[in-house]
Amino acid sequence: MINHRGPEFAAMLARILDGMKPFFGTTRDVAMLTCAGSGGLEAAIVNTLSPGDRVLGVSIGSFGDRFAKIAGIYGADVTKVAVEWGQAADPAAIRDALLANPGYKAVLLTHNETSTGVMNPIGDLAAAIREASPDSLILVDSVSGLGAVPFEMDAWGVDVVVTGSQKAWMAAPGLAMIAASDRGWAATETARMPRFYLDIRTHRESAAAGQTPFTPAIAVVYQVDEGLRLMQAEGRDGIFARHEACAAASRAGLQALGFELFADPRFASKTVTAARLPDGHDWKVFNGAIKSHGVVLAGGQGKLTGKIFRLGHLGSVTVDEILGAIAVLERVSIEQGRRIEAGLAVGAAQAAALAIQTGGASGTGSAGPGATAGTPSEPAAAVPA
Ligand SMILES: Cc1ncc(COP(=O)(O)O)c(C=O)c1O
Repeated sequence: MINHRGPEFAAMLARILDGMKPFFGTTRDVAMLTCAGSGGLEAAIVNTLSPGDRVLGVSIGSFGDRFAKIAGIYGADVTKVAVEWGQAADPAAIRDALLANPGYKAVLLTHNETSTGVMNPIGDLAAAIREASPDSLILVDSVSGLGAVPFEMDAWGVDVVVTGSQKAWMAAPGLAMIAASDRGWAATETARMPRFYLDIRTHRESAAAGQTPFTPAIAVVYQVDEGLRLMQAEGRDGIFARHEACAAASRAGLQALGFELFADPRFASKTVTAARLPDGHDWKVFNGAIKSHGVVLAGGQGKLTGKIFRLGHLGSVTVDEILGAIAVLERVSIEQGRRIEAGLAVGAAQAAALAIQTGGASGTGSAGPGATAGTPSEPAAAVPA
Protein backbone atom coordinates (compact mmCIF):
# COMPACT_ATOMS: atom_id res chain seq x y z
CA MET A 1 0.00 0.00 0.00
CA ILE A 2 0.98 3.60 -0.47
CA ASN A 3 0.20 6.60 1.67
CA HIS A 4 -3.23 7.69 0.58
CA ARG A 5 -2.38 11.20 1.70
CA GLY A 6 0.74 11.28 -0.46
CA PRO A 7 1.60 12.47 -3.97
CA GLU A 8 1.44 9.04 -5.68
CA PHE A 9 -2.13 8.57 -4.55
CA ALA A 10 -3.05 12.12 -5.56
CA ALA A 11 -1.75 11.46 -9.07
CA MET A 12 -3.61 8.17 -9.31
CA LEU A 13 -6.87 9.69 -8.07
CA ALA A 14 -6.62 12.53 -10.58
CA ARG A 15 -5.93 10.06 -13.40
CA ILE A 16 -9.02 8.06 -12.48
CA LEU A 17 -11.42 10.96 -11.96
CA ASP A 18 -10.30 12.66 -15.19
CA GLY A 19 -9.92 9.44 -17.16
CA MET A 20 -13.48 8.37 -16.42
CA LYS A 21 -15.10 11.57 -17.63
CA PRO A 22 -15.18 10.63 -21.33
CA PHE A 23 -16.87 7.34 -20.42
CA PHE A 24 -19.52 9.21 -18.44
CA GLY A 25 -19.80 11.67 -21.30
CA THR A 26 -19.29 14.57 -18.93
CA THR A 27 -16.91 17.41 -18.25
CA ARG A 28 -18.29 17.75 -14.72
CA ASP A 29 -16.77 16.42 -11.50
CA VAL A 30 -16.73 12.72 -10.70
CA ALA A 31 -16.47 11.41 -7.14
CA MET A 32 -14.93 8.09 -6.13
CA LEU A 33 -16.42 6.36 -3.10
CA THR A 34 -15.18 3.27 -1.34
CA CYS A 35 -18.31 1.12 -1.35
CA ALA A 36 -20.23 -1.34 -3.50
CA GLY A 37 -22.30 -0.16 -6.44
CA SER A 38 -25.33 -0.11 -4.14
CA GLY A 39 -23.52 2.46 -1.98
CA GLY A 40 -23.20 4.56 -5.12
CA LEU A 41 -26.96 4.28 -5.67
CA GLU A 42 -27.54 5.32 -2.08
CA ALA A 43 -25.20 8.29 -2.63
CA ALA A 44 -27.21 9.33 -5.70
CA ILE A 45 -30.37 9.42 -3.59
CA VAL A 46 -29.18 10.98 -0.35
CA ASN A 47 -27.13 13.70 -2.03
CA THR A 48 -29.93 15.04 -4.20
CA LEU A 49 -33.23 14.43 -2.39
CA SER A 50 -35.11 15.35 0.76
CA PRO A 51 -37.62 13.29 2.74
CA GLY A 52 -41.06 13.70 1.21
CA ASP A 53 -39.77 14.43 -2.29
CA ARG A 54 -41.87 12.76 -4.95
CA VAL A 55 -39.81 10.32 -6.97
CA LEU A 56 -40.71 8.25 -10.02
CA GLY A 57 -38.87 4.93 -9.82
CA VAL A 58 -38.77 3.32 -13.23
CA SER A 59 -37.99 -0.35 -12.68
CA ILE A 60 -37.35 -2.95 -15.37
CA GLY A 61 -35.91 -5.55 -12.99
CA SER A 62 -34.45 -6.23 -9.59
CA PHE A 63 -31.85 -3.44 -9.67
CA GLY A 64 -34.53 -0.91 -10.60
CA ASP A 65 -36.51 -2.20 -7.63
CA ARG A 66 -33.46 -1.70 -5.43
CA PHE A 67 -32.93 1.91 -6.54
CA ALA A 68 -36.58 2.74 -5.78
CA LYS A 69 -36.36 0.92 -2.45
CA ILE A 70 -33.38 2.98 -1.32
CA ALA A 71 -35.24 6.20 -2.09
CA GLY A 72 -38.24 4.96 -0.11
CA ILE A 73 -36.14 3.95 2.88
CA TYR A 74 -34.76 7.50 3.10
CA GLY A 75 -38.26 8.93 3.09
CA ALA A 76 -38.90 9.82 -0.53
CA ASP A 77 -42.48 9.47 -1.71
CA VAL A 78 -41.84 6.88 -4.44
CA THR A 79 -44.22 6.00 -7.25
CA LYS A 80 -43.03 2.97 -9.11
CA VAL A 81 -43.42 2.30 -12.81
CA ALA A 82 -42.88 -1.45 -12.99
CA VAL A 83 -42.10 -2.57 -16.52
CA GLU A 84 -42.52 -6.22 -17.44
CA TRP A 85 -39.19 -8.01 -16.91
CA GLY A 86 -37.42 -8.55 -20.22
CA GLN A 87 -38.71 -5.25 -21.60
CA ALA A 88 -37.16 -1.80 -21.61
CA ALA A 89 -38.91 1.32 -20.33
CA ASP A 90 -40.96 3.10 -22.98
CA PRO A 91 -40.14 6.83 -23.29
CA ALA A 92 -43.74 7.67 -24.27
CA ALA A 93 -45.12 5.85 -21.22
CA ILE A 94 -42.71 7.67 -18.90
CA ARG A 95 -43.60 10.99 -20.50
CA ASP A 96 -47.30 10.26 -20.00
CA ALA A 97 -46.74 9.26 -16.37
CA LEU A 98 -44.94 12.56 -15.74
CA LEU A 99 -47.54 14.65 -17.53
CA ALA A 100 -50.42 12.92 -15.74
CA ASN A 101 -48.88 13.63 -12.39
CA PRO A 102 -46.56 16.64 -12.43
CA GLY A 103 -44.13 17.61 -9.71
CA TYR A 104 -41.69 14.73 -9.47
CA LYS A 105 -38.40 15.86 -7.97
CA ALA A 106 -36.51 12.99 -9.55
CA VAL A 107 -36.82 10.06 -11.93
CA LEU A 108 -34.76 6.94 -11.26
CA LEU A 109 -33.58 4.89 -14.22
CA THR A 110 -31.48 1.77 -14.63
CA HIS A 111 -29.22 1.88 -17.66
CA ASN A 112 -28.33 -1.81 -17.90
CA GLU A 113 -30.66 -4.08 -15.93
CA THR A 114 -28.28 -6.90 -15.08
CA SER A 115 -31.05 -9.13 -13.75
CA THR A 116 -32.84 -9.35 -17.10
CA GLY A 117 -30.19 -8.50 -19.70
CA VAL A 118 -32.03 -5.42 -20.90
CA MET A 119 -30.41 -2.08 -21.73
CA ASN A 120 -32.67 0.93 -21.41
CA PRO A 121 -32.46 3.66 -24.11
CA ILE A 122 -31.29 6.31 -21.64
CA GLY A 123 -30.91 9.06 -24.24
CA ASP A 124 -34.51 8.63 -25.42
CA LEU A 125 -35.85 8.28 -21.88
CA ALA A 126 -33.98 11.39 -20.72
CA ALA A 127 -35.34 13.37 -23.69
CA ALA A 128 -38.91 12.30 -22.83
CA ILE A 129 -38.40 13.23 -19.16
CA ARG A 130 -36.90 16.62 -20.04
CA GLU A 131 -39.86 17.35 -22.33
CA ALA A 132 -42.54 16.37 -19.83
CA SER A 133 -40.93 17.46 -16.61
CA PRO A 134 -37.98 19.80 -17.21
CA ASP A 135 -37.21 20.30 -13.52
CA SER A 136 -37.01 16.63 -12.52
CA LEU A 137 -33.59 15.29 -11.71
CA ILE A 138 -32.63 12.22 -13.73
CA LEU A 139 -30.64 9.73 -11.65
CA VAL A 140 -29.17 6.75 -13.48
CA ASP A 141 -27.81 3.44 -12.23
CA SER A 142 -25.20 2.52 -14.83
CA VAL A 143 -23.30 0.16 -12.56
CA SER A 144 -23.14 -2.53 -15.24
CA GLY A 145 -23.24 -0.37 -18.36
CA LEU A 146 -20.90 2.58 -18.08
CA GLY A 147 -17.52 2.12 -19.73
CA ALA A 148 -18.75 -0.73 -21.95
CA VAL A 149 -21.19 1.17 -24.14
CA PRO A 150 -21.56 4.80 -25.19
CA PHE A 151 -23.00 7.13 -22.54
CA GLU A 152 -23.50 10.88 -22.98
CA MET A 153 -24.45 12.26 -19.61
CA ASP A 154 -24.07 15.95 -20.52
CA ALA A 155 -25.62 15.71 -23.98
CA TRP A 156 -28.57 13.67 -22.71
CA GLY A 157 -29.20 15.97 -19.76
CA VAL A 158 -28.71 13.26 -17.14
CA ASP A 159 -28.05 14.59 -13.63
CA VAL A 160 -26.41 11.75 -11.71
CA VAL A 161 -24.75 8.56 -12.96
CA VAL A 162 -23.32 5.74 -10.85
CA THR A 163 -20.93 2.95 -11.81
CA GLY A 164 -18.94 0.26 -9.97
CA SER A 165 -15.29 -0.81 -10.14
CA GLN A 166 -16.06 -4.51 -10.68
CA LYS A 167 -17.85 -4.05 -13.97
CA ALA A 168 -16.49 -2.36 -17.12
CA TRP A 169 -13.46 -1.08 -15.20
CA MET A 170 -12.10 -4.63 -14.92
CA ALA A 171 -11.22 -4.34 -11.25
CA ALA A 172 -12.28 -5.96 -8.00
CA PRO A 173 -15.42 -4.75 -6.22
CA GLY A 174 -14.95 -1.91 -3.76
CA LEU A 175 -15.31 1.44 -5.50
CA ALA A 176 -18.32 3.30 -6.81
CA MET A 177 -17.88 6.29 -9.09
CA ILE A 178 -20.55 8.94 -9.29
CA ALA A 179 -20.82 11.95 -11.58
CA ALA A 180 -23.27 14.82 -11.27
CA SER A 181 -24.38 17.61 -13.58
CA ASP A 182 -24.40 21.25 -12.45
CA ARG A 183 -28.00 20.72 -11.43
CA GLY A 184 -27.04 17.54 -9.62
CA TRP A 185 -24.25 19.28 -7.71
CA ALA A 186 -26.59 22.18 -6.92
CA ALA A 187 -29.09 19.66 -5.51
CA THR A 188 -26.44 18.41 -3.07
CA GLU A 189 -26.61 21.83 -1.38
CA THR A 190 -30.33 21.69 -0.71
CA ALA A 191 -30.90 17.95 -0.19
CA ARG A 192 -31.93 17.13 3.36
CA MET A 193 -31.58 13.37 3.47
CA PRO A 194 -29.02 12.35 6.13
CA ARG A 195 -25.53 11.55 4.88
CA PHE A 196 -22.01 11.55 6.17
CA TYR A 197 -19.79 8.88 4.58
CA LEU A 198 -21.60 9.20 1.25
CA ASP A 199 -21.72 13.00 1.11
CA ILE A 200 -20.22 13.60 -2.32
CA ARG A 201 -19.50 17.24 -1.48
CA THR A 202 -16.80 16.18 0.98
CA HIS A 203 -15.44 13.76 -1.63
CA ARG A 204 -15.23 16.56 -4.16
CA GLU A 205 -13.49 18.87 -1.69
CA SER A 206 -10.97 16.19 -0.76
CA ALA A 207 -10.37 15.27 -4.39
CA ALA A 208 -9.39 18.86 -5.11
CA ALA A 209 -6.58 18.29 -2.60
CA GLY A 210 -5.67 14.92 -4.16
CA GLN A 211 -7.29 12.86 -1.44
CA THR A 212 -10.41 11.03 -0.36
CA PRO A 213 -12.12 12.05 2.89
CA PHE A 214 -11.79 8.54 4.33
CA THR A 215 -9.27 5.75 3.81
CA PRO A 216 -9.99 4.42 0.32
CA ALA A 217 -9.77 0.82 -0.92
CA ILE A 218 -6.25 1.54 -2.18
CA ALA A 219 -5.78 -1.92 -3.69
CA VAL A 220 -8.88 -1.46 -5.83
CA VAL A 221 -7.81 2.06 -6.76
CA TYR A 222 -4.61 0.58 -8.25
CA GLN A 223 -6.75 -1.84 -10.24
CA VAL A 224 -9.12 0.77 -11.60
CA ASP A 225 -6.10 2.89 -12.55
CA GLU A 226 -4.71 -0.07 -14.50
CA GLY A 227 -8.14 -0.94 -15.95
CA LEU A 228 -8.48 2.60 -17.23
CA ARG A 229 -4.98 2.47 -18.71
CA LEU A 230 -5.96 -0.66 -20.65
CA MET A 231 -9.22 0.93 -21.70
CA GLN A 232 -7.50 4.06 -22.93
CA ALA A 233 -5.05 1.91 -24.93
CA GLU A 234 -7.92 0.01 -26.52
CA GLY A 235 -9.91 3.16 -27.17
CA ARG A 236 -13.60 3.76 -26.63
CA ASP A 237 -14.63 2.61 -30.10
CA GLY A 238 -12.61 -0.58 -29.66
CA ILE A 239 -14.15 -1.27 -26.25
CA PHE A 240 -17.68 -0.62 -27.45
CA ALA A 241 -17.19 -2.80 -30.54
CA ARG A 242 -15.70 -5.61 -28.43
CA HIS A 243 -18.70 -5.58 -26.10
CA GLU A 244 -21.04 -5.51 -29.05
CA ALA A 245 -19.24 -8.44 -30.66
CA CYS A 246 -19.26 -10.44 -27.40
CA ALA A 247 -22.98 -9.74 -26.99
CA ALA A 248 -23.77 -10.72 -30.59
CA ALA A 249 -21.72 -13.92 -30.23
CA SER A 250 -23.49 -14.77 -26.96
CA ARG A 251 -26.94 -14.26 -28.44
CA ALA A 252 -26.21 -16.16 -31.64
CA GLY A 253 -24.55 -19.03 -29.79
CA LEU A 254 -27.32 -19.40 -27.24
CA GLN A 255 -30.01 -19.25 -29.89
CA ALA A 256 -28.23 -21.87 -31.99
CA LEU A 257 -28.27 -24.05 -28.88
CA GLY A 258 -32.03 -23.73 -28.82
CA PHE A 259 -32.28 -21.34 -25.89
CA GLU A 260 -34.86 -18.60 -26.10
CA LEU A 261 -33.38 -15.23 -25.27
CA PHE A 262 -35.11 -13.42 -22.44
CA ALA A 263 -34.71 -9.78 -23.40
CA ASP A 264 -36.67 -7.90 -26.01
CA PRO A 265 -34.14 -8.10 -28.88
CA ARG A 266 -34.45 -4.36 -29.56
CA PHE A 267 -33.02 -3.67 -26.12
CA ALA A 268 -30.73 -6.65 -25.59
CA SER A 269 -27.88 -5.75 -23.26
CA LYS A 270 -24.35 -5.43 -24.60
CA THR A 271 -22.90 -6.61 -21.29
CA VAL A 272 -25.04 -9.54 -20.14
CA THR A 273 -27.27 -11.97 -22.02
CA ALA A 274 -30.13 -13.80 -20.34
CA ALA A 275 -31.73 -16.93 -21.77
CA ARG A 276 -34.70 -18.97 -20.63
CA LEU A 277 -34.11 -22.42 -19.24
CA PRO A 278 -36.31 -24.82 -21.21
CA ASP A 279 -39.10 -26.56 -19.28
CA GLY A 280 -37.77 -29.50 -17.34
CA HIS A 281 -34.21 -28.21 -17.54
CA ASP A 282 -32.85 -28.32 -14.01
CA TRP A 283 -30.70 -25.25 -13.40
CA LYS A 284 -28.57 -26.90 -10.72
CA VAL A 285 -27.73 -29.95 -12.85
CA PHE A 286 -27.07 -27.81 -15.91
CA ASN A 287 -24.98 -25.25 -14.03
CA GLY A 288 -23.04 -27.94 -12.17
CA ALA A 289 -21.92 -29.49 -15.43
CA ILE A 290 -21.05 -26.12 -16.97
CA LYS A 291 -19.05 -25.18 -13.89
CA SER A 292 -17.03 -28.39 -14.05
CA HIS A 293 -15.64 -27.07 -17.35
CA GLY A 294 -14.54 -23.83 -15.75
CA VAL A 295 -17.32 -21.56 -16.97
CA VAL A 296 -19.24 -19.63 -14.35
CA LEU A 297 -22.77 -18.72 -15.36
CA ALA A 298 -25.21 -16.74 -13.25
CA GLY A 299 -28.71 -17.92 -12.52
CA GLY A 300 -31.87 -15.85 -12.43
CA GLN A 301 -32.58 -13.40 -9.63
CA GLY A 302 -35.78 -12.98 -7.64
CA LYS A 303 -38.78 -14.23 -9.55
CA LEU A 304 -36.53 -15.46 -12.37
CA THR A 305 -34.66 -17.92 -10.15
CA GLY A 306 -34.54 -21.29 -11.92
CA LYS A 307 -36.17 -19.79 -15.01
CA ILE A 308 -33.27 -18.06 -16.75
CA PHE A 309 -29.50 -18.10 -16.74
CA ARG A 310 -27.15 -15.26 -17.59
CA LEU A 311 -23.90 -15.07 -19.49
CA GLY A 312 -21.84 -12.02 -18.58
CA HIS A 313 -19.68 -10.29 -21.18
CA LEU A 314 -18.55 -7.16 -19.42
CA GLY A 315 -15.15 -5.63 -18.79
CA SER A 316 -12.22 -7.98 -19.15
CA VAL A 317 -13.75 -10.34 -21.67
CA THR A 318 -12.89 -11.26 -25.25
CA VAL A 319 -14.81 -12.83 -28.11
CA ASP A 320 -12.52 -15.85 -27.86
CA GLU A 321 -13.57 -16.36 -24.27
CA ILE A 322 -17.23 -16.14 -25.24
CA LEU A 323 -16.63 -18.72 -28.00
CA GLY A 324 -15.05 -20.95 -25.36
CA ALA A 325 -18.06 -20.52 -23.11
CA ILE A 326 -20.44 -21.34 -25.97
CA ALA A 327 -18.37 -24.45 -26.75
CA VAL A 328 -18.81 -25.58 -23.15
CA LEU A 329 -22.55 -24.89 -23.23
CA GLU A 330 -22.76 -26.84 -26.48
CA ARG A 331 -20.86 -29.81 -25.13
CA VAL A 332 -22.87 -29.98 -21.91
CA SER A 333 -26.15 -29.60 -23.81
CA ILE A 334 -25.20 -32.54 -26.03
CA GLU A 335 -24.04 -34.60 -23.04
CA GLN A 336 -27.36 -33.91 -21.35
CA GLY A 337 -29.22 -35.36 -24.30
CA ARG A 338 -30.28 -32.30 -26.27
CA ARG A 339 -30.22 -32.84 -30.03
CA ILE A 340 -27.61 -30.35 -31.20
CA GLU A 341 -25.13 -30.59 -34.00
CA ALA A 342 -21.63 -30.21 -32.60
CA GLY A 343 -19.94 -27.02 -33.74
CA LEU A 344 -23.07 -25.29 -34.93
CA ALA A 345 -23.44 -22.92 -32.00
CA VAL A 346 -19.76 -22.01 -31.90
CA GLY A 347 -19.91 -21.35 -35.64
CA ALA A 348 -22.96 -19.14 -35.27
CA ALA A 349 -21.34 -17.22 -32.42
CA GLN A 350 -18.10 -16.79 -34.37
CA ALA A 351 -19.97 -15.52 -37.43
CA ALA A 352 -21.99 -13.03 -35.38
CA ALA A 353 -18.86 -11.64 -33.75
CA LEU A 354 -16.94 -11.45 -36.99
CA ALA A 355 -19.75 -9.59 -38.70
CA ILE A 356 -19.28 -6.84 -36.14
CA GLN A 357 -15.52 -6.94 -35.86
CA THR A 358 -15.08 -6.64 -39.59
CA GLY A 359 -17.65 -3.85 -39.78
CA GLY A 360 -20.24 -5.89 -41.62
CA ALA A 361 -23.08 -5.81 -39.12
CA SER A 362 -25.46 -3.13 -38.07
CA GLY A 363 -24.58 -1.81 -34.64
CA THR A 364 -23.39 1.39 -33.05
CA GLY A 365 -21.36 2.20 -36.11
CA SER A 366 -18.26 2.17 -33.95
CA ALA A 367 -17.17 -1.29 -35.06
CA GLY A 368 -14.11 -1.71 -37.16
CA PRO A 369 -11.15 -3.91 -37.85
CA GLY A 370 -8.92 -4.44 -34.88
CA ALA A 371 -11.80 -4.02 -32.49
CA THR A 372 -10.15 -6.29 -29.97
CA ALA A 373 -6.71 -4.71 -30.20
CA GLY A 374 -5.36 -4.00 -26.78
CA THR A 375 -7.94 -6.22 -25.16
CA PRO A 376 -6.68 -7.44 -21.83
CA SER A 377 -5.52 -11.03 -21.83
CA GLU A 378 -6.66 -11.90 -18.33
CA PRO A 379 -9.44 -14.50 -18.05
CA ALA A 380 -12.95 -13.16 -18.12
CA ALA A 381 -14.90 -12.60 -14.98
CA ALA A 382 -18.10 -13.55 -16.76
CA VAL A 383 -20.21 -13.36 -13.66
CA PRO A 384 -22.96 -10.80 -13.30
CA ALA A 385 -23.87 -10.17 -9.65
C1 LIG B 1 -27.41 -2.63 -12.53
C2 LIG B 1 -26.83 -2.85 -11.19
N1 LIG B 1 -27.10 -1.97 -10.23
C3 LIG B 1 -26.61 -2.10 -9.00
C4 LIG B 1 -25.79 -3.16 -8.67
C5 LIG B 1 -25.32 -3.28 -7.28
O1 LIG B 1 -23.93 -3.26 -7.22
P1 LIG B 1 -23.21 -3.93 -5.97
O2 LIG B 1 -23.51 -5.38 -6.03
O3 LIG B 1 -21.76 -3.60 -6.21
O4 LIG B 1 -23.77 -3.28 -4.76
C6 LIG B 1 -25.49 -4.11 -9.63
C7 LIG B 1 -24.67 -5.27 -9.32
O5 LIG B 1 -24.51 -6.17 -10.11
C8 LIG B 1 -26.02 -3.95 -10.92
O6 LIG B 1 -25.76 -4.84 -11.88
